[in-house]
Amino acid sequence: MSTHDGISADAFDLHALNESLARTRFAGKLHHFASIGSTSTHAMAQADEAAPDGDVYFADEQTAGRGRGAHSWSSPAGTGLYFSVLLRPRLSPGDALWFSLAAGLAVHAAVERVTSLRADIRWPNDLLLGKHKFCGILTEMNAEVTRVRHLVIGIGINVRQPEFPEDIRKIATSLRLETGRDWSRQDLLAAVLSQLEAEIAVLTSPSGIEEATTNILKRLEQKSSWIRGKRVFVEGMEGYEGVTEGLDQRGFLRIRTAKGLKTVLSGGVREQS
Ligand code: BTN
Repeated sequence: MSTHDGISADAFDLHALNESLARTRFAGKLHHFASIGSTSTHAMAQADEAAPDGDVYFADEQTAGRGRGAHSWSSPAGTGLYFSVLLRPRLSPGDALWFSLAAGLAVHAAVERVTSLRADIRWPNDLLLGKHKFCGILTEMNAEVTRVRHLVIGIGINVRQPEFPEDIRKIATSLRLETGRDWSRQDLLAAVLSQLEAEIAVLTSPSGIEEATTNILKRLEQKSSWIRGKRVFVEGMEGYEGVTEGLDQRGFLRIRTAKGLKTVLSGGVREQS
């Protein structure tokens, strides 16, 4: 079946999706929208209305998709996967970065499972194929100084886009553009959520977060070419350049610069050509 613009239809089957997630916190908590402003904006608002841990909001189209910083997220109808997961872990705000890093690892594993593609991870959690980005993750929270009230992990994956708007054409890609074929958004969503369940279970296990974080640091070193030895430019008010030198014990990226070792606390990291 084809839509008028030549993109084959890829409808979601909510019943099948719930079945495939039966052993996760997400079963029975999937909320689908044909079109919405932003699944993350909606999830944050629902969290304020006492929506439960594990709620997932996903949409065929976002009309106001948001990225990190002040960026937008291109979210055309029927081609990408746009979803936000609401979590209520017992957590201090300083540990929220681990959930964001773990989400990147979850998408990495899911994409490999479904498509056999091995993505690269650009700290903290952009997923790239070659030099082009196909997945972005926006993690937001509502917190007291000592306690997170809720976290929303918003994930956008470019799955079936045959092309991109002019402003992002040079930096974006989709699974379709990389492989020459379409992939089921539903299969990808189910795979990401089941990987995410496994990551969250370890991060929230009664034995404490330390074991999980050691393992996350180890896997990021293995799966990301950006963690060590990459010449990068850090965007921001006072941008700087240097060579990446691993993650610190809180999960932040360290950069060796001409003025010494710096830690990237905010700002995007870009390859220095
Ligand atoms: C980035 O790389 O800048 C993060 C992009 C995050 C996009 C996703 S799509 C689903 C969710 N809803 C949003 O408005 N944003 C996130």
